[in-house]
Amino acid sequence: MSGSNELSRRDFIKVTTGIVGGLIGAVIGLPAVYYLIDPALREGGKDAWIPIGKFDDMQIGVPYPFSFTRVQVNGWERTASSFGGYAVRKSDSPDDLLVLNSRCTHLACTVNWSAEADGFLCPCHDAKFDIAGEVVDGPPPRALDVYEEHRITEDGIVEIFFKEG
Ligand code: FES
Repeated sequence: MSGSNELSRRDFIKVTTGIVGGLIGAVIGLPAVYYLIDPALREGGKDAWIPIGKFDDMQIGVPYPFSFTRVQVNGWERTASSFGGYAVRKSDSPDDLLVLNSRCTHLACTVNWSAEADGFLCPCHDAKFDIAGEVVDGPPPRALDVYEEHRITEDGIVEIFFKEG
């Protein structure tokens, strides 16, 4: 009688230890497995709203520069890419905002605003774009690209919608 009681007590302890051990293993092990596998499964960078500055800091008629970096994850490889542009306020209206991409449409150098020249100048092949992004001079085949979708948050922050690729 006492022998069978001892046996069942031992079995009970074994089973209980097994269950507790299994639970601890699951709690500790799952996040570790997820951590190891996660980068390989994660997709590349995602489309997102990117804050570029305060609307009130953007003066009418003075291009406001901004830049941001996106990290793309492809398996174990991480690639950081930089992007930038200028927000151009044309009037008091929040709707009257043009957000230009600062990548030259010729061979992708970065253009810079020059108040003196009253235009965006590309240092690579001396191109010039006007404040609306239209080509004034040089080899670019078309106007500067535009970040079409933008919005102003309740806090007055201008955000652009960035599409990957
Ligand atoms: S890259 Fe800008 S003019 Fe050639």
